[in-house]
Amino acid sequence: MGRKFLVALGGAMLTLSMAACSGGGAGSGDDKSSAKPGDLTIGVSMPTQTSERWIADGNAVKSKLEGKGYKVDLQYAGDDIPTQSQQVDQMITQGADVLIIAAIDGTALSSQLQAAASAKIPVISYDRLIRGSKDVDFYVSFDNYKVGVAQGTALLVGLGLLNKDGSKGTAKGPLNVELFAGSLDDNNTQFFFNGAMDTLKPFVDDGTLVVKSKQTTPEQVATLRWQQETAQKRMENLLTSSYNDGSKVDGVLSPYDGISRGIITALQNAGYGTGAKKLPVVTGQDAEIASIKLINDGVQSSTVFKDTRLLADQAVNAAEAFLQKKEPEANDTKTYNNGVKVVPSYLLPIVTVYKDDIKTALIDSGYWTAEEVAAGQAKK
Ligand code: BGC
Repeated sequence: MGRKFLVALGGAMLTLSMAACSGGGAGSGDDKSSAKPGDLTIGVSMPTQTSERWIADGNAVKSKLEGKGYKVDLQYAGDDIPTQSQQVDQMITQGADVLIIAAIDGTALSSQLQAAASAKIPVISYDRLIRGSKDVDFYVSFDNYKVGVAQGTALLVGLGLLNKDGSKGTAKGPLNVELFAGSLDDNNTQFFFNGAMDTLKPFVDDGTLVVKSKQTTPEQVATLRWQQETAQKRMENLLTSSYNDGSKVDGVLSPYDGISRGIITALQNAGYGTGAKKLPVVTGQDAEIASIKLINDGVQSSTVFKDTRLLADQAVNAAEAFLQKKEPEANDTKTYNNGVKVVPSYLLPIVTVYKDDIKTALIDSGYWTAEEVAAGQAKK
């Protein structure tokens, strides 16, 4: 065997063993508490860049971690499940020390999580709970049931059935509403929908609210991958199938601003918002800038603001705790059962935003500037 070959072989073995070491860095169960932040990498896996909130989440987590000196491997999966699995696999083999994951499909990452567990890499489920795996170590999110309650309440307030202070409003039924939910593979979807429906149910039961299409089950009202176009199509179909008799839609329960914009486009294309045909009350979520402009212009009625900066803080706190061999601080240890175990969670509060709240909730807090709200576009 030539000397050159032996040197090359030795080099390859060294590389291999180094890879094994860093892959199993957490893997070897090493105490990271003495490692320098610059020697530690946090893998951050985000679902998609088509929605602003995930871009804000990714940027906030990355800059906060980098601010503390950690290395960050941030990846977006283009809403494609195999891409996300592959990206997480790669983070593990490249030696991530902690993983922060916002899953596309809450049940699709079990084998990645198993690999992370064997390499002793802690996994933090970010905003969307990963289901069906014992290897989820912590969950950071908002109070997702309350998001749904806020959406149901905002629909009732927008319709004038309730006042903002919760007292009875002056409007009278029957009023026609239609319901939309998010993607069924996202664990949050059922929390949002249940919170909203628990709030709306008494009004449906006594006939104040009428769902003319009769589509009320999660399966009937779901929107795969939360897509705007899918929501627009369904709204168009609802208008043709249930409102071609001269009747009007008065309100639409929407779980997310992108879906709200799809619904609003369908309604505008059908003549709503011009003349006497008022646009229905449409709810939302995420305080996306395009929707904040619509709310400011009186087109969309409300949204639910979830401050992604605070969520990023909690994810970073949890990651640091794990690296220091501590348990992250949880404020909920009951609600989030992922089918295999109850995952300790840190849940943040939410804020309903109507037109009047844009300044205090979003501009004064520095989430959006007044110029961005006026333009309906985020400044790069
Ligand atoms: C998030 C929402 C978001 C939705 C669509 C959910 O998991 O909690 O904030 O609107 O995904 O991206």
